[in-house]
Amino acid sequence: MRFFNWDENLATGIPECDLQHKKLINMFNAIYDSIRLNIDKKALKEALDSLIDYFDKHFAFEEKLMEKYQYPEINIHREEHKNFKEALNKILQNPNEEINFLEVLKFFKNWWFNHILTMDKKYGPFLEAKMKK
Ligand code: FEO
Repeated sequence: MRFFNWDENLATGIPECDLQHKKLINMFNAIYDSIRLNIDKKALKEALDSLIDYFDKHFAFEEKLMEKYQYPEINIHREEHKNFKEALNKILQNPNEEINFLEVLKFFKNWWFNHILTMDKKYGPFLEAKMKK
């Protein structure tokens, strides 16, 4: 069973962004499979760190693109990326609690799924039109 499925409803219309989104979805699914297989926590943490690292790159890529084409909602979008990162760091840095990987993954997925549908899909038509010029 896949944890997170790509479907065309998630497409932004910007090929590189969609490619990165698909790669992130694959990373989510790989971590989910590892959790189900009871892979040791150190390996899970490394996989989660790689996912977060790729998210950072993805967010930076989107922000650069929005900046280049002067997307009017760049600040709101950037703020949402930042707020999410802060919320995630708070969960991961609580020294008193052992990381519940499945819960972190679900939180991460729910946020990002909604983010694609509400924020990323919004920049799609704008950037697509600008990039054609
Ligand atoms: Fe694809 Fe704004 O994250």
